[in-house]
Formats: sequence, structure tokens, C-alpha cells
Amino acid sequence: MKKRNFPVKTRGKRFPNFIAESIATFSAQTQTRETEKRLSFENRQERIYLYLEDCLSGMKRLDEGCVDVVVTSPPYNLGIKYSSYDDRIPRKNYLNWIYNWGSALKRVLSDKGSLFLNLGGKPSDPWVPYEVLFTLKDLFCLQNTIHWIKSVSVRKNGTIESFGHYKPINSKRFLNDCHEFIFHLTNDGSVELDRKAIGVPYSDKSNVDRWQTAGDDIRCRGNTWFIPYKTIQNGDAERPHPATFPVELAEFCYKLHGLNKIRLAMDPFLGIGNASIAAYRLKLSFIGFEIDKKYILEAQKRIKGEKCQK
Ligand SMILES: C[S@@+](CC[C@H](N)C(=O)[O-])C[C@H]1O[C@@H](n2cnc3c(N)ncnc32)[C@H](O)[C@@H]1O
Repeated sequence: MKKRNFPVKTRGKRFPNFIAESIATFSAQTQTRETEKRLSFENRQERIYLYLEDCLSGMKRLDEGCVDVVVTSPPYNLGIKYSSYDDRIPRKNYLNWIYNWGSALKRVLSDKGSLFLNLGGKPSDPWVPYEVLFTLKDLFCLQNTIHWIKSVSVRKNGTIESFGHYKPINSKRFLNDCHEFIFHLTNDGSVELDRKAIGVPYSDKSNVDRWQTAGDDIRCRGNTWFIPYKTIQNGDAERPHPATFPVELAEFCYKLHGLNKIRLAMDPFLGIGNASIAAYRLKLSFIGFEIDKKYILEAQKRIKGEKCQK
């Protein structure tokens, strides 16, 4: 099959040839049906590649080790009503499937790559995130556990203030679930991070002098990330997918991994493309897979919307 030549230079940044080659080979080998080809989206200039395709077959066509960072949220098997995916399959089958795509992902992740895996449970089925993590235990090392906080109440100057989105549940047994996990998985736990890229200023400025490492008044943010959803007026139009993460969450992950170390970012479960928007904003090359036409079209629309805002 004839290989197409892709421009290696993108938006002022040069990428190693093998990445361009990897995507070029991938594109050329994509033997999807006509509609799927039509619905897939290749923005070669900005190097954002979104494919209407099962991620298992998609990842098989990528070169070994060509992805440096993955920010993703697979279906949690909690019975979420996706437009086509069945989110309630027997737990054993679900965990087998997790292992299968986990193995495919491990092959394409570079030695010093990061997988940021967003997972949540629900009060009546709280084990899912732990079971998924345990299933991936032989493939990856758990380097960090991050808590994505969606809503929080804090006492400030004697009064309690609440921030973020709060959807009350009616229960005598369960607390409201205001957080999800982001498991940071790597090959061997030795990936160096750019902690200050998402750092926060010291609130007590005397610490700037006291701690030697504090020189520039930025400290590590820690592993609790308060990232609320945006308030929306019109549910269906503004949130056309039932289980998304905010763009900012993916931005944090990319920055923490280190932008200058990322040749290619990936989300195998693209949804409406929040990880691709974050990559676009940070000028990263990106590849994503999604099996649902409605969602991938929405992802394309949103990327095009970003271009218009530039
Ligand atoms: C939790 S959602 C991801 C949402 C995404 N993070 C966002 O912010 O829009 C999981 C997505 O995976 C998709 N999906 C399920 N199985 C898939 C597969 N085998 N390959 C690719 N996508 C798949 C579903 O259609 C769903 O949109």
C-alpha cells in the first residue's frame, strides 16, 4: 500500500519522523467502511486525528511505543445510557475487555509514558474502579492516585462556602458522591512529572523563604483537583453525552506529564472529544477513537468550533 506523506512540522513544533510515519501508516491502513471513513476526521495541519472505530482495532494499527500520554475514561459498566454502547454487561466480560484494551494500550504507550485513567463508581456499586485497577495491575504500575473533586464545601472566615456542581441523592445510607478517581499508571512508576506546571501559589508567603524548593512561590497542587463542571442552561444541547470529563481535567494531565515530552496524545474512548480539545489548545498531536457516530460528530464540531475561536 502506498504511504502518504504527512508534514512533520506542525504549528511551530517539530515531531520526530516516526510519529508522522506512524500516523501516516495508520491512516493508509485504515480499512473502515465508507461511512466510517467519512465520519472520521483528520486535521493534518493541526494533527488532530479522530476515528470512528473500535479502539482495539485502532490501537493495533499504531506503532509500538508511539504514544506518550493517554487521558481517558472508559465506560464504567454502571448502566449509563449511552446512545449506542451497552453499559451493563456481565462484570466478568467487562473486566476481560478492560484487560484486552489495557494490553493493547500498553503496547503503544512509550516506556516513559503516562496513562491517566478516569474512573468512578456509584454508591450502590462502589467496587468498579478498584476492580478495573486490579485488573490492570499486571500491566501497569500505579504511580499516583488523583481525586477529581467535583464539589466541595470549605470553611472560610467562619462561614461555610460550597463550590462546584451538586446533584443531591435521596438516601439514608449513602453520602453524595462528589469525586472520581484519576489513576496515574505508568510502566514502572519512574516517570518524572512537571509538578509545577499545574502548581499553585503558597497561601502563606512566609513559606516561600522557608522551604528551599519554594523559591518561585509555586508549590505542588497535590492529588486533590477541584475541577467543577461548567454550569449549563440547556442540558441536551450543551452536554450531549452522559459521562464526560471537563477539558481542564485533560489539560492538567498533559501539563503534569510535561508538554515538551509529548509527541502524541491519545484517548481511546473519545466521547465528545474533551481530551482532543485539551490537546488542540495545548498544540499537541492527538489521536482518538470512538464507536458512536453521534459522539464523534459532536467531537469534530467542537474541534472546528475551537478553530473558529482562534
Ligand atoms: C465515559 S465515555 C468518554 C467520554 C469522554 N471522556 C468525554 O469527555 O467526552 C466512554 C465512551 O467510550 C465509547 N466506547 C465504548 N466502547 C468503545 C470502544 N470499544 N472503542 C471506542 N470507543 C468506545 C462510548 O461510546 C463512550 O462515548
